[in-house]
Amino acid sequence: MAHAGLRPDDNQGIPNPPVYYASTVLFPTIEEFETRDRPPYHGVQYGRSGTPTQFAFEEAVTALYPGGHKTVSWPSGIGAIAATMITFLRHGDHVLVADTVYGPTRKRVGANLLERAGVEITYYDPLIGGGIADLINERTRMIYLESPGSHTFEVQDVPAITQAAKARGVMTAIDNTWSSPLYCNPFDLGVDLVIEAATKYICGHSDAMLGTTTVSTEEQFQALKAMQSTLGSRAGPDECYLGLRGLRTLSVRMERHQKNALVLAEWFQARPEVARVLYPALADDPGHELWRRDHTGASGLFGVMLEPCSKAAVAAMLDGLELFGMGASWGGYESLVITIHPEKLRTAVPWPHDNPMLRFHIGLEDPADLIDDLAAGFTRLNAAS
Ligand SMILES: Cc1ncc(COP(=O)(O)O)c(C=O)c1O
Repeated sequence: MAHAGLRPDDNQGIPNPPVYYASTVLFPTIEEFETRDRPPYHGVQYGRSGTPTQFAFEEAVTALYPGGHKTVSWPSGIGAIAATMITFLRHGDHVLVADTVYGPTRKRVGANLLERAGVEITYYDPLIGGGIADLINERTRMIYLESPGSHTFEVQDVPAITQAAKARGVMTAIDNTWSSPLYCNPFDLGVDLVIEAATKYICGHSDAMLGTTTVSTEEQFQALKAMQSTLGSRAGPDECYLGLRGLRTLSVRMERHQKNALVLAEWFQARPEVARVLYPALADDPGHELWRRDHTGASGLFGVMLEPCSKAAVAAMLDGLELFGMGASWGGYESLVITIHPEKLRTAVPWPHDNPMLRFHIGLEDPADLIDDLAAGFTRLNAAS
């Protein structure tokens, strides 16, 4: 993380690759223009095909995923998911998608893009494990995973699923954003394509949108690169610079997110207002054993199911918080909270609870300050109940 993607020899000794902006790239002779794929240009031909800033970021992400072959960067996480799916799926194909995927993966990529393009989607129980074999048919081309799942944090048995997929020649792709490259390497678990919403932990400062797909073969890379050119959809150099800068501190930030989140999760568990904390790092979480087997750490994102209470009581708690911001996204330095509604998304396994649900992202603040803020929030919640 400290050294990947550095090229001081190409940049007057400056360690951080600078932000190269380009549309036009000039060549000294027409012959060199016509053979521009060759060194010393390292693939720099025209802005749309990338500049050394983007290449440095992509190279660094690949270096964090042993078993990964190359990485393609996109302007957002959802851009990475959409482009990866449409690269490898076409009219008439069937794709299996975990019921717990990030909402827009289902509503935007699934409904707006894939179904309109004639790709059939079956949502599956994230806890299905090797039972996924029964859902694979002769048209199934991809199994899409996200583990832990968005909002409810079910941990998938990734090796069992990839084993069943390989037995039938089906490709697998995973959204690995919760773990970041640091806490899970899905290539070790048999996955073919690994997606990161680098917007979250990799950038880490709530100021940039970025996505990546890391592939395991040159053939997959060429297919994705061709789609990137077709869509004209590459991450910008500024964002790649920020992504690269974020990587340098990823390990210390993740360590602190994890430490703080565990303190907060355990504190929530002891509160009478809380019915359940959904966080695989907790020893009594149903996904704990699988998480321990396949991950080397936990991030700062978890769910809290409250005991039944009114919407007004939840609002009284949240609206008065001083340190927790309310807003989409996560993975930045600051703590966040939002209300979530898994019952509105699930189709394969309907969410059976109607308790109010919150999603917390625990930032880098002092956990004692965060607890004070939340304790005052629960006092407001109780007074409004
Ligand atoms: C699990 C997960 N994957 C993907 C995304 C999409 O990333 P982006 O917001 O960069 O499009 C998000 C965004 O919240 C997410 O939570």
